Amino acid sequence: MSTFNSSSTLLIEGPKFPSYNFISSSTNQFKINNQAIYLYHSNDLKINDVVNNDHTIKTAYSVWDASLILSKFLEKQCNENKLNFKGKKVIEVGAGKSIPSIASYILGASLVTITDVPSVVPEIEKIITLNGFENKNVFAKPLDWINRKEHIPILINEGPWDYILAADVVWVDYLIEPLIDTISELSTPSHTTLFLCHQTRTTRSDKLLFDAIENHGWKIHKVSMNELNLAEEFRKDNVEIYRGQKILS
Ligand SMILES: C[S@@+](CC[C@H](N)C(=O)[O-])C[C@H]1O[C@@H](n2cnc3c(N)ncnc32)[C@H](O)[C@@H]1O
Repeated sequence: MSTFNSSSTLLIEGPKFPSYNFISSSTNQFKINNQAIYLYHSNDLKINDVVNNDHTIKTAYSVWDASLILSKFLEKQCNENKLNFKGKKVIEVGAGKSIPSIASYILGASLVTITDVPSVVPEIEKIITLNGFENKNVFAKPLDWINRKEHIPILINEGPWDYILAADVVWVDYLIEPLIDTISELSTPSHTTLFLCHQTRTTRSDKLLFDAIENHGWKIHKVSMNELNLAEEFRKDNVEIYRGQKILS
């Protein structure tokens, strides 16, 4: 396990799935329903490009395991007719490389809004274009969970959202409360379904996360091993998918 540490950053595991080629049209691509997903290389990202050398923003430039696991789970659910994105509105928070969003558009969603902090939005726009979705109902929009006053009313207006997607969005404790506030504001009680693909890094942050979710009136369940049942190459011990709905306003 490779680790990264700083005063406020939890242990971050290296990716289990580095072998997928998102760039060229050669073999071993990451595909959803046989359609390859393309990404730009961020390897040439310079430390100075990252605002204030901010670790939270830097995380947007990697593909995290949870995003691939969530995408494959959504594909499986759709193909088994347990989930139907047709005619549905999907929003992703802390999207970074945006793979679950791109996957949900491939799987038939009628509107996909991909959000991250403002500085990451141009990168998401590039990904949308690279995948040929620039004139489709796929949009990149700013949404900073901490400073969301300006952006969130617009996004709430574009709802009601049928699905909120979130992959690997819990890795520093101070973001947990603003994240849960954000998804609570975006969701319509007893309507919006949350798919959260979560990688456990510490039991402390898990407790903070699930306490916050419960305190905000959400009912959330871990997707069982039976239901998840992904191909071995998309399994990872400390990554789980949770499905939830906000029940109380
Ligand atoms: C660990 S990465 C996960 C990225 C992507 N979901 C994935 O799984 O590959 C965390 C993401 O949260 C975003 N993020 C960090 N702080 C944020 C904030 N205050 N508001 C919104 N997004 C934030 C980062 O820019 C990054 O894209």
